[in-house]
Parts: sequence; structure tokens; C-alpha cells
Amino acid sequence: MIDLRSDTVTRPGAGMLEAMMSAAVGDDVLGDDPTVNRLQEQAADLFGVEAALFCPSGTMTNQIAINVHTRPGDEVICHSQAHIYVYEGGGIMANSGASVRLAGTPDGRITSAEVAASINPDDVHAARTRLVALENTNNRCGGTCLDFSGIEAIGEVARQHRMGFHLDGARLFNALVETDQTARDYGATFDSISICLSKGLGCPVGSLLLGSRDFIHEARRVRKRLGGGWRQAGLLAAAGIYALENNVERLVEDHAKARRLGECLASQPYTASIAPVQTNIVVFDLAEPALDSAFIAGLTDKGVLAIKLGQGKLRMVTHLDVSVEAIEQVCDILSGIRL
Ligand SMILES: Cc1ncc(COP(=O)(O)O)c(C=O)c1O
Repeated sequence: MIDLRSDTVTRPGAGMLEAMMSAAVGDDVLGDDPTVNRLQEQAADLFGVEAALFCPSGTMTNQIAINVHTRPGDEVICHSQAHIYVYEGGGIMANSGASVRLAGTPDGRITSAEVAASINPDDVHAARTRLVALENTNNRCGGTCLDFSGIEAIGEVARQHRMGFHLDGARLFNALVETDQTARDYGATFDSISICLSKGLGCPVGSLLLGSRDFIHEARRVRKRLGGGWRQAGLLAAAGIYALENNVERLVEDHAKARRLGECLASQPYTASIAPVQTNIVVFDLAEPALDSAFIAGLTDKGVLAIKLGQGKLRMVTHLDVSVEAIEQVCDILSGIRL
């Protein structure tokens, strides 16, 4: 099968496995796994922030961050298609008791004016708006890279209103290789950043939460409370170190493969529209939305896996386990489909 459902489906290659097998380990709950500590220091240094915390998943790093930034009864501003809202099991409400104010345009962006207009007045009737959370790249909107000047303008609004500013950067490295900014630009702009090692970077497991020393101290407490304290996690951290050193620059190859898929899909009669392909995600709408399940089933029969996002929207994601040749095969299959 050619699996384009997500970039989370990759399996560790020989180099990564070797790094994992030779990792020095200790008990990370006690703070003495040397490989976890090295990964955390390396990531904090890359982003120019004081500290980092290695966690099992991006959902956990996001939810920990929201929990540290807010108190029950507070409100979080995020995009209507944000992973923290759509795909984290209602965790903002369940874990932190916070409500959500949705904003944003269909291409995954939010303007600073919209953020400013979404902040509740300081009034006992209203939830206290306490956090703005962005997502870069935006998953459900087609891997869009946010414009950095727009991010800075939102950061300014957040600062003026004494709100926290969090980034779900599950695929931030995909944005970094396509734009002029560095990891340090992001580290200097957000109060907290979640990055995933288990997406385009190809690790089996793992995400990092980045922030100030005080923020990460508190985050460690929340991670323990959620059951995310782990022991000899150095085996997994070693994969993370390998990925940061070997798998970042190559992301541009995944983007080229996604552009090729996008071009192919754009010329098919069954495609109604396709989100501009900027990174490794291709989101497109079928002219006949009701045929989405039949389309996926037809593709599966021919050996290609993709996923439905609902209402006739479909998604394909490129990654390091899908070759250029496999993408050409998929293009042939897509060109042969008659709906
Ligand atoms: C944008 C975004 N944020 C967060 C996550 C959560 O990551 P995890 O699956 O590791 O919980 C995902 C997962 O696909 C994602 O796409």
C-alpha cells in the first residue's frame, strides 16, 4: 500500500534504529535520563528558549501548554480548524475547564484584528480571554504556512492584553524549510511552542514543549498529573536527536512530492478545488461531496490510502516513506479514476 493518510505512518529507518539501540538511558521522571536531557537541551538551544520537555504526543504538549496558560473559566482563541479544538477530544474543556472562541479564514489564517475583536471585555459576565493559540502549518487547511509578520502582530495583541501566546508547531519544521524564518524567530515570539518529532521528522513517538524555565517547570508537573511521566524514554529521545540532525532539510523533498500530487489532482474532472500546496499536505474538494467514501474505497482497492476530512474534503500527506516513484504511480491511478 502507498500510505498517504498522514506523515505519522513512517517507520524508523536503519540509522534511527541504530541511534535508539545505542542510547544511554535513565529514569526520566527522576530527571536522569541523559539522552532525554540532551534532546531537551538541543531543542531549547535550537529555538533559543530556556527549556524544553519531551512528551509522548503533540496532543499532550498542546494540552499541557493550555493547562499551564489558563485557569478554569478562562477562554482560548484559536482557528476554527485548529487541531487543539477539532482533534483533541474536547481536551481544552475537559483538561483545563476553559472555553474556546473560534476565529480564522478558510485558508488557516487569523488576523490580529480578528484576535483583538475576539477578546472579551474585562467584565464579570464574560470569560477571561487568556490565551491565543496558532497552528503552523495548519493541518486541516492544507498545510498552510502562516505569514510571520501576521504572527508577530497577533503576538503584540496578546502581549498588550497580558495573554499567553502558544504555537501548535506539530509541522513547524515544514514551514521553516519553506520560509525565511528560523526556529529562534519563533522561540522569541511565542510563550510556548509544541513541536512534533513523529510527523515529517519520522520518529516513532515524541513531541517537545518549549518555553521559559518557569513554564516548563510547571509543565513537568502537569505532564506527571496526566500520566505522561516516563522512565527510560532515552530510547525514544535518541530517535528525536537523530531526526533533528538528519531529517529536517529533506522535508523539501516531501513538499515537492505534494506539489506533484496537487498538480495532478488539479487537472482531474472530479476535483472541485484544491488548497494551495505549500508543504506536505494536499487537501482537495470533490465536485460530488457525497462520493467521498466511494473515492477512498476505489483508491484503497488500487493500493493507495488517503483520508476523508468530511463534506467531500479529502487529504493526502507526503512523507519520508513514500518515494518519488510511488507518487508517480499515485498520479497514474488518480488520472484513471472516473467518478
Ligand atoms: C497540527 C497538529 N497538532 C497536533 C497533533 C497531535 O499530535 P499527536 O498525534 O502526536 O498527538 C497533530 C497530529 O496529527 C497535528 O496534526
